[in-house]
Amino acid sequence: MSAPAVDWAALRAVADTAAGHAYAPYSRLRVGAAGLTAEGRILTGCNVENASYGLTLCAECGLVSALAAAGGGRLVAVSVTAGDGVPLAPCGRCRQLLLEHGGPQLLVDAGEAAPPSSLGELLPGAFDADELAARRGER
Ligand code: THU
Repeated sequence: MSAPAVDWAALRAVADTAAGHAYAPYSRLRVGAAGLTAEGRILTGCNVENASYGLTLCAECGLVSALAAAGGGRLVAVSVTAGDGVPLAPCGRCRQLLLEHGGPQLLVDAGEAAPPSSLGELLPGAFDADELAARRGER
């Protein structure tokens, strides 16, 4: 199956809308993530903070959870914003979460002025499912 063309402005707008649903009373940084699957579906997530700060769920975490809950699939493009139409760099943990569901080819929004980054560029030398299987002697 060929990957769908990415309408980055539209995907960013969906991320902006998702950011409006964030629960971020502590940082006050409301983050939204929108992901396009290989079949053309769009899933979203928003950050959900907690009084125990370390339990905060990032927007990308919600996105990945929504993807699984909707039956799974492969992410091909992701936009993360703080509701202002400007892409936000996914944190390190979220790069690893996204890798599992999009691989190094996953495109990450870098805004109007720059081409999207590949996740492989953002997370070089990543530990992934192949590495785990190899270490377990499964391949
Ligand atoms: N945040 C995300 O939702 N995604 C990221 O990739 C970076 C950070 C959230 C977590 C926290 O609620 C707020 O932004 C400030 O760190």
